[in-house]
Parts: sequence; structure tokens; C-alpha cells
Amino acid sequence: MKTSKYWEEHFSRNLKVKRVNWTLQPSLTKDQKRKILRSLQAWQLAETSDGKHLIAASKKHAEQVNDPDFLSAVHLFIKEENKHGENLGIYLDRLNVSRIKADWGDSLFRQVRYFNTNMELWTLTVLTVENTAQVYYQSLKNATQCTLLKEICTDILIDEAFHINFQFERLAQITRNMSAFSRFWRLYAYWIFFFSTITMVYIAHRKVFRAGGINFNRYYSKMKLKFNKTIKRLFRPKSNVYLSKLKWEQIEL
Ligand SMILES: [Fe+2]
Ligand SMILES: [Fe+2]
Repeated sequence: MKTSKYWEEHFSRNLKVKRVNWTLQPSLTKDQKRKILRSLQAWQLAETSDGKHLIAASKKHAEQVNDPDFLSAVHLFIKEENKHGENLGIYLDRLNVSRIKADWGDSLFRQVRYFNTNMELWTLTVLTVENTAQVYYQSLKNATQCTLLKEICTDILIDEAFHINFQFERLAQITRNMSAFSRFWRLYAYWIFFFSTITMVYIAHRKVFRAGGINFNRYYSKMKLKFNKTIKRLFRPKSNVYLSKLKWEQIEL
């Protein structure tokens, strides 16, 4: 398992890497604009959260486990999410499409965040959303021929793969010393949470998923695979030794 210091350094380094060629201009067809833009506005908003509730939960957690570097890593993680929001925002600006201030999905998620000070629930929520984000941005990339948008999506996809590892490791650490019973019911509770969240994301952004060639069946099987590679992997039998046995290379999703 990587240390929080490792993640702090990774995020600091990655923030300096520029992967988007901003001399390009957006080029979307009328049909693509109709299918994509409303959804893009919602993701742009979601990526711009100031993360203050996540920071509060992380601060509490970092103190509990005596890992101050974790808090710095979370600050940089949020900065990276905000970079996604800013890149999508610039793209919308160039198309003269407004950046929205409210969206039902975002409002719902903000309500959940507001009441949530528990690091386990936070990590599960972020991990679930990151998994949907990977399929979403891949669909968005497939749904258009616009090179600028494709580059923005590629940049996000590279970042998200690391985000999933970062959150996965934290969840592994949080759950590793739990009793067999706690671990048993968690797998089912996590699955219910994961499945309901991913279904809501699909319904809200179905036009983009479909335009990118992902119908619900394909989406569901991809998400099930991701669940197995991340959350289910935490609750294997003989799980008390899973941390030492796991290879902590980047998870291929
Ligand atoms: Fe993001
Ligand atoms: Fe992310």
C-alpha cells in the first residue's frame, strides 16, 4: 500500500502535467450539442465542488489514524477534480454555453455530503462516482470527433485511474481490521449503494452514454466488473491477509 506522502507527491507532480492543447477549438455538430451539452454542464458543476465536507471528514480521519499527509493528499486530490471542472468550464465558455449553478443530481449529492462526516462513507461515495466517471468520460470521448473535447476527456481519464487507486487503498485501510460480520454485511450494503448510485448516473446522463455506444446492459456489466475489481476485492475470504497479498500496481479498469 502506498503512503499518503506518495499520493501527495503524485498529485503535486500530476497537477503540473499539461495534456490539453488549448490552441484547438471546439467542433461539435448540432446533434452532438443536443446530446452532450446539458450533461457536460452537470459534470462541470460536480467537478467544481470546494470539497469542504470531504476535507472536514479527512481531517478527522487523518487525526484518528495519525496520518497528517493524508489531509494534504486530499487537498491536492480536490484540486485535481477542480482542474477537471475548470477544463470543462473553458470548453463550455468557448461554445458560449453557460456554466450552471445547480443541477438535481449535484444538489442530491451535496445533501448527502453535507450530512456525511464519516470517512468510510465518503470513500465509498467517491470511489463509486469515480467508477461511473470513467465510463462516462470514455463514452463522451467516443460520442464526438471534437479533438479538444477528446483531449479533455483523456486527461480526466488518466487522473481518474489514479483517483480510484487512491480511494481504493483508503477503503482497504479503513475496513481491514473489521470483524468478519462487519465485512460480511458491508459487501451487500456497498453493492446496494453502488448499484443505486450508478443507475441514477446512467439515467441522468443516458444520452451521452448511448451516443458513446454504451447502452444500460453494457454499462451495467462494465460497472459490475469495476465493483468486483475494487469493492468486492476488499471483502474476499481470508481477508485478514489480503493487504499483504494484494499487488498495489495501478488497477486496470
Ligand atoms: Fe474528476
Ligand atoms: Fe476523480
